[in-house]
Amino acid sequence: MTKLRVDISQVNSFIGNQNWLAVQDEMHEYHRQLITHSGHGNDYLGWLNLPAELDNTLLERIKADAEKIRQMAELFVVIGIGGSYLGSKAVIEALGNPFEDLMGGSDYPYVVFAGENLSGSYHTHLMALLDKKEYAVAVISKSGITTEPAIAFRLIRQHIEAKYGKAEARKRIFAITDASRGALKKLSDTEGYSSYVIPDDVGGRYSVLTPVGLLPIAVAGFDVEALVNGAMNMRETALHSSDFNQNPCTHYAAARNLLYRSGKFVEILVAFEPGMQYMIEWWKQLFGESEGKERKGIFPAGVIFTCDLHSMGQYIQDGMRLLFETVISVGETSTPLVVPHDPENLDGLNFLSGMRLSEINRQAELGTMLAHVDGGVPNIKIIIPSINEYNLGQLIYFFEFACALSGYALGVNPFDQPGVEAYKKNMFALLGKPGFEKETASLRAKLSKP
Ligand code: PA5
Repeated sequence: MTKLRVDISQVNSFIGNQNWLAVQDEMHEYHRQLITHSGHGNDYLGWLNLPAELDNTLLERIKADAEKIRQMAELFVVIGIGGSYLGSKAVIEALGNPFEDLMGGSDYPYVVFAGENLSGSYHTHLMALLDKKEYAVAVISKSGITTEPAIAFRLIRQHIEAKYGKAEARKRIFAITDASRGALKKLSDTEGYSSYVIPDDVGGRYSVLTPVGLLPIAVAGFDVEALVNGAMNMRETALHSSDFNQNPCTHYAAARNLLYRSGKFVEILVAFEPGMQYMIEWWKQLFGESEGKERKGIFPAGVIFTCDLHSMGQYIQDGMRLLFETVISVGETSTPLVVPHDPENLDGLNFLSGMRLSEINRQAELGTMLAHVDGGVPNIKIIIPSINEYNLGQLIYFFEFACALSGYALGVNPFDQPGVEAYKKNMFALLGKPGFEKETASLRAKLSKP
């Protein structure tokens, strides 16, 4: 059963009933284009069927490799950037215990990330850690030629080969990349690494339900089958529910586009659970890279409340009225922790004695939503029953499907990212990459102007 729900009751007054009724036909058309593969970017729709088509042999192989890695490693280094790391990081952080390592670790390898930045100090600290720990590596790149992960892999490959010897290092390296193209594929074939394929028709930010996300998530000890089942269930609803009112994806896509058309250009994804921080980062990539093009698109931002109520809360309540919020509201948390009674009551908090923190958090969520709506910030609510693999699988597929619809509503191709090339060209030119001589000269001239 699809347990995720979307509540738009705090949006209606901002968009008007007429618009809400009118957008339904529009959404119906985008839904049709998506499921009949007749919209923009229709050669990148492999993700639509991923959860249903993921065969058991692949899942079994992922689980077997995860077990192998668990036997040989305390640390699992995931090298990748953008869609090649955010999905696994999001799920692992949402499900994990943030203090696990300080508690002495778990039975599963601790997953660390590399190649998602170019920081010398980050990678120096990481290499120092790798000196001390038993580890294995996944190097993930769909294109197989992305600079950041390629540099990190160069460093780590030298380290792992020096530490274990070439033959043993090969057993500890897993490559996840394109079936036939790219430098990583070539290297992996030459070295004989254990490798997984990212399907041609699945773009990076839509790849969490391929080995890109599933291998690291399985290594961290989480139930990848439940994650895929959750996604599969949402797929049924998203694909087959052409009734606008029964489909949470069309609802969300419609609401956010109507808000955008009314001048709400920034969407803030809000969670009241700190573990959801990277789910927000994954969502930011999904929507930002899919929609921000042709001088259009909703700017995706994110906050964790109540923490950020003490920083961004001021702007949201009182600043420029170009925002709307989407709250991931979690029905229940598993913690029974309550506020203790204090006979002295110096802090005046005895009215909360015996109350669960989760209940206080819920009232904070409600109070915040009412205050922000009063302040002119519309509020969409995405309700999931709890944070577990199944519900995260639903949430992931829900966002993917809604993002595709939403991109169509904006009139852009949600599956390309032409804008990402501009920084790469400049970076290569400034670094003196052969073939970029003209660009180097032009940038140097620009930089030397007073
Ligand atoms: O969504 C995307 O396509 C991008 O964010 C990519 O995931 C990111 O640029 C990394 O690319 P690659 O996996 O080819 O190294």
